[in-house]
Amino acid sequence: MNTAPVIGIHDLAVATGSRVLDLADLAYATGVEPAKFHKGLGQDQMSVPAPDEDIVTMGAAAAAPILERHGTAGIRTVLFATETGVDQSKAAGVFVHRLLGLPSSCRVVELKQACYGGTAALQMAMGIVARDPRERVLIITSDVARYGIDTAAEPTQGAGAVAMLVAADPDLLEIPGPTGVWTADIDDFWRPNDSDVAMVEGKLSIDAYLDAFTGAWDDYRAQGGVDVGEIDRFCHHQPFTRMAEKAHRRLAEHTGVDLPLETFLPSTFYNRRIGNSYTASLFFALAAVLDADDDLAGARVGLFSYGSGAVGEFFTGIVRPGYREVMRRERTEQMLDARVPVSVADYRALHRGVPRDTTNDITVDAVSAGPFHFAGIVGRARRYTRD
Ligand code: HMG
Repeated sequence: MNTAPVIGIHDLAVATGSRVLDLADLAYATGVEPAKFHKGLGQDQMSVPAPDEDIVTMGAAAAAPILERHGTAGIRTVLFATETGVDQSKAAGVFVHRLLGLPSSCRVVELKQACYGGTAALQMAMGIVARDPRERVLIITSDVARYGIDTAAEPTQGAGAVAMLVAADPDLLEIPGPTGVWTADIDDFWRPNDSDVAMVEGKLSIDAYLDAFTGAWDDYRAQGGVDVGEIDRFCHHQPFTRMAEKAHRRLAEHTGVDLPLETFLPSTFYNRRIGNSYTASLFFALAAVLDADDDLAGARVGLFSYGSGAVGEFFTGIVRPGYREVMRRERTEQMLDARVPVSVADYRALHRGVPRDTTNDITVDAVSAGPFHFAGIVGRARRYTRD
């Protein structure tokens, strides 16, 4: 008899930058038809962090409601996935560990492989809980997507964080095996150590994403994964939501099965307004699906994670009964509505203003609603506060 515990996502909460740029404004400022961003890329807005916000403050803000609800019991591991780390050595999660008052009996580590890092964290968390089902693992995915000003990638920026608690007998999403994985060494998108904006070969990155998708799908099927027709909703990584539509069409072509757009469209509702949040993007897609009006209890959700460079993974989750009571749709919508609109000039000033040099101490004023703030640099080390 199989006595393996059911393991998966027990809780999930989100955060984003407190400023927002309307992409219609960016279109007018750059002489582009707004329809290119709205229809061609499938994006309406992008979140912009205030000077006192970064991956640590967003990550802490996403995780705080999870700890308020569940306490810290059983959390012995924090996995922080990001590709926009704030230090070359120290894990961003260690700052969050202090800000959230997590116990010292805890391991904290940072994971990186472009946007795929969050899924790597999820798979590792599943293993930790399988070894000892008393444990709960806190995952934080948090990123600020930054490309050069006046590049084709500029409208595909964004910022956000999704925190998840992985546990046995989860309230939200059971994650059964198998999964399908795919890796190939491709220079489609990367960020050299001396650059705070990503380098990207746009068209190559789209092809690499689609190759990773069919590759991961084929591996998923070879490992015994279910037929595509048994999957009720799809979340594909969303660097811009139109990319997920391309992926969805590719899967339909690849499998020869008609996949209505309705099975993936709900996954785009948050990312259309947030932009790319790299590691967090796939889990914003999942949040949007679970926050949609239809009752998904018992439904199977397919998730495709892509990280440039390149790694892909396809896996599925089964929605647990009572999941609606766990989700925080109203809070998420209020958070998005409460963002402060910025002009193109203000957004570009924020983009240029991110401190790159740590040789001089700096003080950063708390300008966002918080409760977590990047307070500046002292002795080349970053400082964070909680209201
Ligand atoms: P571009 O050169 O501005 O785009 O760059 P385009 O000229 O190809 O236009 C985009 C779409 O808009 C096209 O549609 C146009 O036809 C359409 P498509 O051919 O794709 O169907 N369009 C219009 N539609 C309606 N009305 C109009 C109009 N004009 C044009 N008037 C690109 C686009 C995505 C390449 C660029 O923004 C970029 O480089 N972005 C960053 C890279 C990226 O997001 N790549 C995605 C795959 S890689 C990935 O997902 C990983 C990533 O998240 C990082 C990580 O893993 O860490 C990025």
